[in-house]
Amino acid sequence: MSKIEQTLSIIKPDAVERKLDSEIKEMFKNSGFSIIKEKKIQIEKSEAEKFYKVHETKPFYSDLCEYLSSGPIIVMVLEKENAVLGNRKLMGATNPKDAEEGTIRKKYGISIDKNSVHGSDSIDNARNEIDFFFKD
Ligand code: CMP
Repeated sequence: MSKIEQTLSIIKPDAVERKLDSEIKEMFKNSGFSIIKEKKIQIEKSEAEKFYKVHETKPFYSDLCEYLSSGPIIVMVLEKENAVLGNRKLMGATNPKDAEEGTIRKKYGISIDKNSVHGSDSIDNARNEIDFFFKD
């Protein structure tokens, strides 16, 4: 059964730096997502460490947090039916080399680190990640 969901999307520093944000937002809109909230920010490494805490035991954790805090990012709340899964499909595989044609990471990703976008991987994480950036 399909239901309206919200998910968190981040346009990462590599894509913001290359001014790909408008094209990526168009891909979301063309896939039926509404961008409910958005802001352009730069975060501290300590904030990135909190955001990616689930990965804290991974060997790539420090580099990942360094990277996410290395330049401006655009954080967005996306909404549509089955948004969490739909966004993961639209983003494509984590490693752009493995991503399918037509996905954001295939089109714009440079490497597994510079993979242009982040998206929540479950409904629970979507709620937490939206609160992380948009709790007023
Ligand atoms: P993202 O969806 O933002 O979630 C965690 C990020 O860690 C992931 O995208 C990748 O950019 C990054 N990463 C770096 N190395 C790896 C790896 N070996 N496996 C998974 N993610 C990795």
